[in-house]
Amino acid sequence: MDLGLKGKRVLVLASSKGLGKAAAEAYAKAGANVMLTSRTVKNVKQTAEDLSSFAEGTIAYHPCDVSKKEDIKKLIDETAARFGGIDVLVNNAGGPPPGKFEDLDEEDWEWAYQLTLMSTVRAIRYALPYLKQSKGRIVNITSSSIKEPIDGLLLSNVYRMGIVGLAKTLSKELAPDGVLINTVGPGRIDTERVRTLDAAKAEKLQLTPDEVREQSEAAIPLGRYGEPEEFANIILFLGSGLNTYVTGQMFVADGGMTHSY
Ligand SMILES: NC(=O)c1ccc[n+]([C@@H]2O[C@H](COP(=O)([O-])OP(=O)(O)OC[C@H]3O[C@@H](n4cnc5c(N)ncnc54)[C@H](OP(=O)(O)O)[C@@H]3O)[C@@H](O)[C@H]2O)c1
Repeated sequence: MDLGLKGKRVLVLASSKGLGKAAAEAYAKAGANVMLTSRTVKNVKQTAEDLSSFAEGTIAYHPCDVSKKEDIKKLIDETAARFGGIDVLVNNAGGPPPGKFEDLDEEDWEWAYQLTLMSTVRAIRYALPYLKQSKGRIVNITSSSIKEPIDGLLLSNVYRMGIVGLAKTLSKELAPDGVLINTVGPGRIDTERVRTLDAAKAEKLQLTPDEVREQSEAAIPLGRYGEPEEFANIILFLGSGLNTYVTGQMFVADGGMTHSY
């Protein structure tokens, strides 16, 4: 099936590993040119090499800490200069720190604000002239906390809803320019981050990581964690030429874990 992505210019934030990498890989397989980014040069360079081994398009990378305004500005400038514009922007970042209300101080709130919400605001602000020109697509990676708050992840519960509000508002403001924007929340997708979180929980509860995983999987109607490629498929569709009429929406890819409408 032609996804209309051959030769398109795609920027995926936080993409050396996990969900960002899986999304970048999906776009690369569809024939797009892809700009990768993360803080660790060695990792993002390696990911660029991995994707280049099969990609038809150009795979480039530019190191960036998405919590930093100047880094994002340089990343967008570099992407537009390298590819001659931007057609698809996939916003992603590392997860904000865990904690309940009384565990968190001003600094935690400020840092998570920059990392989770402002990274998305800034990437859209700087990329917008290019996205308007290309009648582009924006896809935001968030969390299933956009459907149901997660205990002990207050900062995620708060700031990811900010992204939903942003996307919903922008879907109206940018519709006349032909720019479509949507938000997707992963439930439990088998990435390094989830394995690390399971290991930490196992240690705390004196269980094995496999036992923790079994408990988590028991709460998922499909009975298993998702694969990063399964998550990437919806990101791919929303940013592709097949998506011509879906905007301002939020989706979860969670094996049925959340039950709210
Ligand atoms: N996996 C899930 O099931 C799940 C569920 C709910 C929500 N999420 C959210 O989805 C996002 C991605 O999760 P993941 O599972 O893919 O995590 P992951 O496997 O740990 O990968 C995170 C990626 O983001 C990059 N990154 C982290 N902080 C960054 C920063 N400040 N600037 C630039 N790049 C940064 C990392 O590279 P560097 O470290 O080199 O920068 C890495 O490439 C997170 O926000 C996470 O909370 C994931």
